[in-house]
Amino acid sequence: MTMNKFDDAPASQRSMILRAAETILSGGLVVFPTETVYGLGADALDASAVRGIFTAKGRPSDNPLIVHIADLEDLERVTRHASSIARDLFARFAPGPLTLVMPAHPDLAPAVSAGLSTVAVRFPSHPVAIDLLRACGRPLAAPSANRSGEPSPTTVAMARASLGDAAGVYLDGGPCRVGLESTVASIIDDVVTILRPGAVTAEDIEAAVAGIRVRYATLVAAQPSPSPGLRHRHYQPRAEVFTVEARDFEHARLADLSKPMGILGRRADIEVWRGSFAAVRDAADVTEYARNLYRWFAELDALEVSTIVAVMPPADGIGLALRDRLERASGNNRID
Ligand code: TXA
Ligand code: MG
Repeated sequence: MTMNKFDDAPASQRSMILRAAETILSGGLVVFPTETVYGLGADALDASAVRGIFTAKGRPSDNPLIVHIADLEDLERVTRHASSIARDLFARFAPGPLTLVMPAHPDLAPAVSAGLSTVAVRFPSHPVAIDLLRACGRPLAAPSANRSGEPSPTTVAMARASLGDAAGVYLDGGPCRVGLESTVASIIDDVVTILRPGAVTAEDIEAAVAGIRVRYATLVAAQPSPSPGLRHRHYQPRAEVFTVEARDFEHARLADLSKPMGILGRRADIEVWRGSFAAVRDAADVTEYARNLYRWFAELDALEVSTIVAVMPPADGIGLALRDRLERASGNNRID
């Protein structure tokens, strides 16, 4: 086992992580923090534990899970073959919010891959996730720690509110730094296809490996979908969400919407209109917007706001991932 910060962690946190590792090894479920969102983890080699994840989330069985590992040597336990591009990308981005689709190892529980021959793999960077992975010594299958269809939790309280006592242990690692799920990408020959945009962008990947080509999957057109989970309804709060482009916002016909309304956006974009809304959540920049989006959804639901207007960020950097989640949350309801 590799030495890490775990050895210096306070005794109470150490004992929580040991309890969580025991829970995993006895086939149970553990909620744990990552830098993106909280995950609901189970031993990826234990078929019945993995089935427990699908039950706890109410997740359709055709939607595969991401397998989390802490050390590059563990790649061999989860994939039959790591291509040189995959190795290069992990050398650059692991640990961090990049998930790569690779040929699945036969020892993985079949439900992890939902019938596909591939597995999605990532190295979380949150120290509590790394401690848990090393303490249990198993790859962890973990989707986001929410009931299927709901926004992903970015605090342990949100995970608990969504899953109740479905998990045996909840590890608290504070609010997630990124706030949106990892970038999911597949590699075929030397083309990288981004199936779900996240904090690691196409430009980041192109800059990391010489000669590589990166494209975004055209998610709606693809049949069958390259990433089954993207077909399902996702990331939706109870309130109805509408998106609006910042440039259209001043002229938008907001009066057509039902009240009471909440508004989300970058501070500079919403300034003119803030007085017209029952609840305002604003961010200094797009990184802060991404980090807070799901918590704001939860807060506005708690305030029983019936309509949420989300002002779109520019389509670059993490803004692309944020726009993707807002489009899904709104079911493509747009104001113009
Ligand atoms: O940031 C994250 O990725 C978080 C944290 C907990 O790591 N996890 C997460 O998992 O968002 P989940 O299950 O909510 O989303 C996994 C996504 C889904 O869109 C799923 O369809 C896709 O990854 N996926 C998983 N395995 C796949 C595979 N073999 N091929 C293509 N897509 C796959
Ligand atoms: Mg999810």
